[in-house]
Amino acid sequence: MTSVLTTALPLPLHSRGKVRDTYRLSDTELLMVSTDRISAFDVVLPTPIPEKGRVLNQLSRSWFRETGGLVRNHLARDQSIPTELLAALPGLDQRSQRVVLAQPVMFECVVRGYLSGSGWKDYRQTGTIAGEPLPAGLEESDRLPQPIFTPATKALTGHDENISRAELASRAGSDVAQTLERLSLSLYRFGAERALDRGLILADTKFEFGWHNGDVILIDEVMTPDSSRFWDAELYRPGGPQPSFDKQYLRDYLEQLGWNKQPPAPPLPQEVVVGTSDRYLEALRRLTGRRQPVTAGV
Ligand SMILES: Nc1ncnc2c1ncn2[C@@H]1O[C@H](COP(=O)(O)OP(=O)(O)O)[C@@H](O)[C@H]1O
Ligand SMILES: [Mg+2]
Repeated sequence: MTSVLTTALPLPLHSRGKVRDTYRLSDTELLMVSTDRISAFDVVLPTPIPEKGRVLNQLSRSWFRETGGLVRNHLARDQSIPTELLAALPGLDQRSQRVVLAQPVMFECVVRGYLSGSGWKDYRQTGTIAGEPLPAGLEESDRLPQPIFTPATKALTGHDENISRAELASRAGSDVAQTLERLSLSLYRFGAERALDRGLILADTKFEFGWHNGDVILIDEVMTPDSSRFWDAELYRPGGPQPSFDKQYLRDYLEQLGWNKQPPAPPLPQEVVVGTSDRYLEALRRLTGRRQPVTAGV
């Protein structure tokens, strides 16, 4: 299957994000297409990663199915892909989802079970995460006493900014804030338990929600390597950073290149492309028990 950096389907374009190209199928439905684009340090790389789009799509799809009892989600009932679209992009059915058009809630719903990334940075400086008190003396990558909800603004450009739960309540309303927190924590607990059964720690993850017919529903992608930190449970050693399951390899390569992390990003050599692709496939295999994405016609 050829890898895809940019799509050009014969449909009106709704949006092009870092990874997904989204089209309008109708007034109420979107087609979200996961490309093989990869970003590192918030910059999209010029080289596609084969299989990545399908892995992300199938992982999200699998989580949407598994968590359907916890929260309604944006998957449309009819997942068939019109044949003229399939003809325009072979394998489209493997890398896309039909979803209902929602009004995105403009906050990222982050849940952290472990102290890492911006949470660790904040804790080291303030002893809290966005003002939420935590026990003293925690080390980097330590497991938190319980998972915590740490919302962030959804920046249209640039980096997201962590906000306190009180700030979320004042901006979104306390009922909505409570709903977002309750749903996010229950999704995280479900996912973290499933992941651990399969030898992976779900250190933290980000959910997005949207409004649909007056209800809050789960949208976007769910517990993929792009929206989450997964660590190999066997290699877990708190007290320092953990190798991330998928992107560490790529980040390490880019770090030793000495690239200044400003666009344009350098192209990737074949060896790094294959190594990264293998890691995404490994994440899919471990999280769903499937070795390969289901391939049409194979
Ligand atoms: N059901 C939905 N309705 C409307 N917008 C959605 C829906 N699901 C996801 N989105 C939006 O579509 C975009 C997905 O593309 P992505 O490549 O992830 O973009 P980004 O670079 O902003 O992360 C996100 O902006 C997300 O908020
Ligand atoms: Mg996204």
